[in-house]
Amino acid sequence: MERTLIILKPDCVQRRLIGRVIQRFEEKGLSIAAMKLMQISRSLAERHYAVHEGKPFYPGLIEYITAGPVVVMVVAGPRAIAVCRKLMGKTFGFEAEPGSIRGDFGASTTYNLVHGSDSVESAATEIALYFEPDQILGDRLPDAAWISKPNEA
Ligand code: RTP
Ligand code: MG
Repeated sequence: MERTLIILKPDCVQRRLIGRVIQRFEEKGLSIAAMKLMQISRSLAERHYAVHEGKPFYPGLIEYITAGPVVVMVVAGPRAIAVCRKLMGKTFGFEAEPGSIRGDFGASTTYNLVHGSDSVESAATEIALYFEPDQILGDRLPDAAWISKPNEA
């Protein structure tokens, strides 16, 4: 069982796509273990995207992610990090496969609807930026027995 941090970015919220995008994660069999609507401050955005500091797109990225409300979730399930990245598709919609979130809902070279952690380490760091441990609730819902076997990764 893995946990990953998913953010529905400002364009996703402004375009009223919250429900449809969350449905992609739910229908895959992943669990929502924590969720909130919030606006990311500049200092939090800088901590979240510290790895990109100095890159040409960094100022625009900080401006984008702080531009409006976002939905932040901890999503849990077997191989949740890789499964979510696959559901999201390549970074930008113009190259993301149809059937993926980014491939189905956009073609921008800037706006890409969702964020997902890219490794076990970044998931742990990112989850801690947004949630206290006691805010993370059930990883395993009652239907889990028919989603995956208990001993799956
Ligand atoms: P994310 O971290 O948001 O899940 O996206 P990602 O792993 O697919 O892409 P990453 O390389 O980590 O880039 C983080 C975010 O920065 C913006 N970006 N803009 N204009 C550009 O060349 C460029 N490259 C990246 C995107 O918003 C991307 O999601
Ligand atoms: Mg990334």
